[in-house]
Amino acid sequence: MEFRKVLGLTTGLLGLLAGLAVAEIPQANATPGPPGNKPGTLAGAAAHSGRYFGTAVTASKLGDPAYTTIANREFDMVTPENEMKLDATEPRQGQFVFTAADRIVDWAVENGKRVRGHTLLWHAAQPGWLQSLSSSALRQAMTDHINGVMSHYKGRIYAWDVVNEAFADGTGARRNSNFQRTGDDWIEAAFRAARAADPAAKLCYNDYNIENWASAKTQSVYAMVADFRARGVPIDCVGFQAHFGSGNPYDGSDLRTTLRNFAALGVDVQITELDIQAAPPATYAAVVNDCLAVPRCAGITVWGVRDPDSWRSGETPLLFDGNGDKKPAYTAVLHALRHGHHSHHGHG
Ligand code: G3I
Repeated sequence: MEFRKVLGLTTGLLGLLAGLAVAEIPQANATPGPPGNKPGTLAGAAAHSGRYFGTAVTASKLGDPAYTTIANREFDMVTPENEMKLDATEPRQGQFVFTAADRIVDWAVENGKRVRGHTLLWHAAQPGWLQSLSSSALRQAMTDHINGVMSHYKGRIYAWDVVNEAFADGTGARRNSNFQRTGDDWIEAAFRAARAADPAAKLCYNDYNIENWASAKTQSVYAMVADFRARGVPIDCVGFQAHFGSGNPYDGSDLRTTLRNFAALGVDVQITELDIQAAPPATYAAVVNDCLAVPRCAGITVWGVRDPDSWRSGETPLLFDGNGDKKPAYTAVLHALRHGHHSHHGHG
């Protein structure tokens, strides 16, 4: 009896306090939890078919509320734009620096988002010490780098871009890089080391200009992934950067064909760095529909929040303008995510 009275009084008081809290700070109570649950957002709309909607994030802007308000509200996947690259994480050999990358990962986790790790091995953004190594010393440094970064983030990364941009434009040959000069097998060595370092992370190969099925570069990447799958080299996903514009035009339903053909090899496919010159709404919607049509298309990431945040800001290629206002492309993407004819992506 006594207990129930106390309980009743307590819950009554709590209810009153909760009511006051709601009345006084409606904003704080109106937006709890991860954005995946909110219907009027990109992430919320993508979640209906089991997909994520992500953005590249820069650590230096996490103190800007105009930036974080949009990033937090609309997206449930985050890719550090530069902070996990070789020059950022291992500026001196064997001395790892995770300050900026940790800031992003902590922010993502605090706000209920997942993280795509970008990137372990890339010919660009290399520190000087790495550029001066070759042959077996370089090969060892590549493995050590994978182990150092992946063990720091073990269990916290949804997918890693293990190798980025290893093929050349035009011919489809391997890109001539210091990594390539250590031998053709450097890519599979990287994937094997990555699987051992964090068995829970999906391991992706990521590249640009591989959206069009007929291109020689696409065919070369496809052949590599088919070969890896046939020989048991661990690979779980292929990232299509999808930087579209006059240099790499979006070509009708061709992206969908490419996504389907890669998915048929038994890997997930992801749109990893989407931006489109001048942000035409119809093209943005078409890319979304291509992903929605392929069950193994796990999600879409745009390469920045607002136009001025973009690496090619002059082309205004993103979904939000400099004032943080939604552009017509945003509305087209949201509409496609909500009403598009979509297949479901299974979590896993
Ligand atoms: O932060 C420094 C700043 O302190 C310095 O004053 C300034 C002077 O140049 O440079 C700033 O760093 C720049 C950084 O972006 C941040 O703005 C680097 O020079 C610049 O090289 C770097 O460019 C990045 C580029 O990758 C190279 O790493 C872009 O932000 C980033 O969007 C771009 O992203 C790539 C993907 O990783 C892979 N796919 C293509 C994509 C677009 O190029």
